[in-house]
Amino acid sequence: MSATSVVGLQWGDEAKGKIVDLLTDQHDIVVRYQGGNNAGHTVVFEGKKYKLSLLPAGILRRGVVSVVAPGVVIHPQALLGEIEQVRSQGVAVSGDNLLISDRAHVIFPYHMAEEAVFERSQKQNAIGTTMRGIGTCYRDKAGRIHAIRMGDLFHPDMFRARLTEIVAQKNIILRALSSDGDFRPFDANAIADEYLGYAAQLKSHVMDTTQFLHRELDAGKRLLFEGAQGSLLDIDHGTFPFVTSSNSSGCGIHNGSGVPERRISRMIGVVKAYTTRVGGGPFPTELDNEIGQHIRDVGHEYGTVTGRPRRCGWFDAVAARYGARLSGIDCLAVMLVDVLSQLDEISVCVAYEINGERTIDFPSHITDLAAAKPVYETLPGWKRDVSAVRRVNDFPAETRRYLDTISTLIGFPVEIMSVGPDREQTIFCD
Ligand code: GDP
Ligand code: IMO
Ligand code: MG
Repeated sequence: MSATSVVGLQWGDEAKGKIVDLLTDQHDIVVRYQGGNNAGHTVVFEGKKYKLSLLPAGILRRGVVSVVAPGVVIHPQALLGEIEQVRSQGVAVSGDNLLISDRAHVIFPYHMAEEAVFERSQKQNAIGTTMRGIGTCYRDKAGRIHAIRMGDLFHPDMFRARLTEIVAQKNIILRALSSDGDFRPFDANAIADEYLGYAAQLKSHVMDTTQFLHRELDAGKRLLFEGAQGSLLDIDHGTFPFVTSSNSSGCGIHNGSGVPERRISRMIGVVKAYTTRVGGGPFPTELDNEIGQHIRDVGHEYGTVTGRPRRCGWFDAVAARYGARLSGIDCLAVMLVDVLSQLDEISVCVAYEINGERTIDFPSHITDLAAAKPVYETLPGWKRDVSAVRRVNDFPAETRRYLDTISTLIGFPVEIMSVGPDREQTIFCD
C-alpha cells in the first residue's frame, strides 16, 4: 500500500505545489480532492515556471495520471484555459493523463455574481475571498436543489431544464440583492449552450474517478494526494468564518476523493518557515511593519490567483501544531527557509496568551484567536544565503537550530526542507 498525502498546515500557500511536483516521480497518480480555482500552486523546474490552479501538479510529469476528484468544484472555462496554458508550455494533456470526476460540482456565472454581492455587503467582516464562486458553489452543493455536477452536463435535456429552473430563482435572488439597480438577468439558455460546449471539449476526461482510483489501488498503483488551501482554512476545523468552503485539512481527503484514509501510508504536512495569510481573519503573529514587508518582498508574497499582497508574520507553532494534529501528519516539509536569511533575529510563537492565560491550544472561536497575544521565543538569525545548501549539515548552526525548534514545537520530524522555488533547491533527510 503506498499512498502519500501532501497537506498545508497553515493558511495556504505553503508551497504544496513544489512538494507534490517533487514527489510525482515516485507516484503513478496525483489526486486533487477539494477546492477549485481559488488555489494557486507554482512549480518551477528547468528554468520554467508553471502556475496551476485546478490541474493537479502531476500533469507536469510524463506518465503520471492526474485526477480531479468529486470534492473539487470546477469552473469549466477556467479549467479549459488552464489546459491551454500548460499546453502552450509544452505539457501534454489528454484523456489519458487527466481524469475529471463526473461527481464534481460545477461553478456557474451566477455563483460569482452572488459572491460579489455577499462580499460587498460585508463592511468590516468580508472574508476576502478569491471571488471565484467557490463558496457559493459549495453552498449550492450542500443545498442540493441548485446544484449541477459535471455528469449532468452529459444529459443535455435534463441539464437545460434544471438550469432553467435554477437561473429563474437565481435571477430573483440577485435582483433583490443588487443595490445598484443595474442588474442584468442571466439567460439560462445561453449559459446552457456555453456549458454544453465546455462539456464537449472535456468529454474525454470526465468519468467515475472513484471507481478508477479503487481499481488502481487494488492494482498496486501509488497515489499522491494534493491538498489545496491549508488546514486553518478548513470549513469545519479552521478559523471560521474566515475559511474556505471545503475540508482543506487532511480531514478532506476521504470525503473529497472517495479513497478511505486508512489507505494513506504517509502524510506530509507542509509549512512555510514563517506564516502568511491572504484575505480577512485574525492572524496573531502578523507583522504589520518593516519586517513583514521584508518577508513579503524577499518571499514574493503576492497571491498567485488574485495578486493580492499576502499578510506576513512569524512562524506560529500553536497554529501549525493544531494543523498538524488535525491532518494527522507523519513528518514536516519546511519551505522558504531562504526567505529568512537576512534577518538578525527570528521569532517563533510558542504559545498564546488569551485574556491573561497562557495556552498552546489553538482556540475554536475567532474572538479568542483575535485576542491571542503571541508568546515568542527569539532565535539568532543565520545571516547567510542558504539557497545553494543541499545537505542538512551544510546549513549554518542557527538554521539547524531554527528547524529543530519548529520540529520540537510541532512534535514531528522535519524530513524535507526547501531553500528556493526550484526542484533542485530541496533537501531531503535520509
Ligand atoms: P501552494 O499554494 O501551497 O502550492 O504555494 P504557492 O505556489 O501559492 O506559493 C509558494 C511560492 O513560493 C511559489 O511561488 C513557489 O515557487 C515559491 N517557493 C516554493 N518553495 C520555495 C522556497 O523554498 N523558497 C522560495 N524563496 N520560494 C519558494
Ligand atoms: P492554495 O491552494 C491561500 C483564502 C482566501 C480567503 C478564504 C476564502 O494556493 O494554498 P475562497 O475564495 O476560497 O472562498 O476564499 O480562503 N484562500 C486561500 N489562501 N491559499 C489558497 O490556496 C487559498 N484559497 C483560498 O484568500 O481568505
Ligand atoms: Mg497558493
